[in-house]
Amino acid sequence: MSQRQLDVRGSTEDVTEALREDVREGLSARQKWLPSKWFYDARGSELFERITELPEYYPTRSEREVLGREAAAVASVTSARTLVELGSGSSEKTRLLLDGLREHGTLTEFVPLDVSASALSEAADAIAADYPGLVVHGVVGDFTEHLGLLPGERPRLVAFLGGTIGNLTPADRAKFLRSVRDVLSEGEWLLLGTDLVKDAETLVRAYDDAAGVTAEFNRNVLRVLNARLGADFDPTAFEHVSYWDEDNEWIEMRLRARAETRVRIPGADLEVTFAEGEHVRTEISAKFRREGVRAELAEAGFELARWWTDERGRFGVSLARAGAGGAS
Ligand code: SAH
Ligand code: AVI
Repeated sequence: MSQRQLDVRGSTEDVTEALREDVREGLSARQKWLPSKWFYDARGSELFERITELPEYYPTRSEREVLGREAAAVASVTSARTLVELGSGSSEKTRLLLDGLREHGTLTEFVPLDVSASALSEAADAIAADYPGLVVHGVVGDFTEHLGLLPGERPRLVAFLGGTIGNLTPADRAKFLRSVRDVLSEGEWLLLGTDLVKDAETLVRAYDDAAGVTAEFNRNVLRVLNARLGADFDPTAFEHVSYWDEDNEWIEMRLRARAETRVRIPGADLEVTFAEGEHVRTEISAKFRREGVRAELAEAGFELARWWTDERGRFGVSLARAGAGGAS
């Protein structure tokens, strides 16, 4: 029998208030934007899972290749007793790490953390059922806010997979990595997945698939605003755009108004006008190079211990050790 527990950080009112503030700030800005974490209600999480299976979307397959090959190495280097996973989603690839750590004989607890309550509870149930004896302690929360409360026996390995770190701006990334370092003790571990810079065509196609699943995922943020704040967006009035920003080395997902549109958002006490062709930036997905990852980790107090990529060099996985100088 596994033990399975689910904690929720923050009430529904707190989440709605956070959304309200983000919407007021982002949609009042000269260049409109929305934080990408609001994609992930139950429908958004399901659409993301469909994205991971698309022929154009290589990151999931590439990272899975690395984890399949290197999970045993991760286990023997870290001897982790607790695996914490941030932005865990379905935790499908994570099973490779759980298997490696279990075979190594050290694993006692799994702590997935995600803003999407539906994805988290489904994944926690499935893993508790498939890993008898493992303590599964899920946390519904925001990894930019709720890290201080992470449970688990030490040494802990924090996994942040999928390239989700690329969805943070460089400043937020630095803050986030420092906060992860601060909750760890010297000698604990971070396993970080980063999508790598590559040709623009491959990147743009990965975010603009032929079946239109990514477009639906992108528009889902408007449905979330309709459901949670009583907004009256017509999602079909916005066109999905995948744009490679070469200077910043990130993909931007945008929603572009097909015609002038006025939207009421009563829950945020806001009315917004979109000119024809005006866009909202809904996500950045930064792409990395090995040296940049090493430098960002070092800046946050981590030493890069291992660096792996898939055979085609599309996706990087770093195993980093918390060095001296953290808060704990
Ligand atoms: N790690 C999985 C899922 C990646 S999708 C994979 O590699 O396939 C990104 C996940 O991060 C989603 O499940 C989403 O709900 C979650 N997420 C996004 N922003 C978050 C935040 N600020 N705090 C916690 N979870 C977040
Ligand atoms: C979760 N994250 C790493 C995905 C990405 O590739 O940036 C989200 C995504 N957006 C569009 N497709 C997938």
